[in-house]
Amino acid sequence: MARLPEPHFAPDCTISVDGREIPARSGESVTSALLAAGRPLLSRSAKYHRPRGPFCLQSSCGSCLVRVDGAPNVRACETACRPGLRVETQNAFGGAAHDLLGAIDLFSPHGIDHHHMATWSQVVNRVAVQASRQLSGLGHLPDQVPAARPPAEELRIDALVVGSGPAGLGAAEALVQGGLRVLLCEQDRALGGRLRCRMHLPGDPPLAWPGEVARAVERAGGRVEARAPVLGLWRDGTELLAAVDRRGAGRMLVVRAPRAVLASGTWAQPPLFPGNDLPGVHGARGLLVALAEDGVVPGERAAVLGQGPEAEAVAERLVAAGMQAERVEGEVARGRGGRRLAALDLADGRRLRCDTLAVATPRMPAAELARAAGAHLELDPATGAFRVKPGPAGLVAPGVWAAGEVCGPCTAAAAVEAGLRAGEAASRG
Ligand code: FES
Repeated sequence: MARLPEPHFAPDCTISVDGREIPARSGESVTSALLAAGRPLLSRSAKYHRPRGPFCLQSSCGSCLVRVDGAPNVRACETACRPGLRVETQNAFGGAAHDLLGAIDLFSPHGIDHHHMATWSQVVNRVAVQASRQLSGLGHLPDQVPAARPPAEELRIDALVVGSGPAGLGAAEALVQGGLRVLLCEQDRALGGRLRCRMHLPGDPPLAWPGEVARAVERAGGRVEARAPVLGLWRDGTELLAAVDRRGAGRMLVVRAPRAVLASGTWAQPPLFPGNDLPGVHGARGLLVALAEDGVVPGERAAVLGQGPEAEAVAERLVAAGMQAERVEGEVARGRGGRRLAALDLADGRRLRCDTLAVATPRMPAAELARAAGAHLELDPATGAFRVKPGPAGLVAPGVWAAGEVCGPCTAAAAVEAGLRAGEAASRG
């Protein structure tokens, strides 16, 4: 079973991947279609041509770059399926599944020192450099010159909220109640952040809440933008200036606002062991969103890496979807497999057979914008990650508040609370 059996998860079109037809649902991501088809192998690594697959499934890692309709280096997890979409895997000779250049890895078990390759002769070195230039790099030039983007739209608004997870929604709700017009920006295709995983943890807000907040924002004269990452945040006099990439519309948005709440959440982090980059290793939240929204059952046997209620909920969701799922107890020494994960070797000598690894270990706070705005970061000894160190009610800089997991691990309920507090403070500020 590659998809949940509910009729609304049934494919309604096909896309072409390296010339082969793959069933898909219109609007779902290319990665969802490929995982449901049992094809997590998407590309090859730049140097040794090792198999690579999508990791985060949430637009943050860049491991899913493919050629789409003749345009190179497009994120498969951001690309919506539609009838006839043409996807080609990159960095491979003969397709990622049977890449002949994979022989480079076989014949160089101890790696290639390309800095000293063939340096004994200038002529031979020149040839070697030419050859390696042909073999390396990401993708090939596009079939057509991309159309010029229209000029950026400008928007003046009362408050900018970055991120529509529990904290961002809480902040937007409080700002609207404070009578302000809000621009709510979400990088992903839908609002909700981790709520979209449907982990149903105690205190999680209801599933309808993101939609209710979006409608309240719009009724109050604000805007909600999905597929719209905020790329930069600057101070311009007394105002904040933000650059928003409206990927859905293909147009930039330049925003001026006197205040902002940064609820940018976290990035999925790959686990640290050899073989962590095999196809079949995925961030757990991205995997659960694909399961909940596209009915994707990514394999037959899953291992779940991580501790605590979230890792338990991930295992439960995968079991409920028909997979065998086992929590990884102990340290992983190595991932094994060829074109996809086949097993994990544990440090105590055991071997755990699995075709999917759901990584539910602590994630990295997405602190870049807060840092650019002047926030202080601190090392979280429990997770080994840097988090935003907020002041009262989440204040991190004049006119800028931070809330939710960007300030360190917290439950969704705690993130809502922090967002509400930050939003209330920002509407008074
Ligand atoms: S960016 Fe697409 S899988 Fe990570």
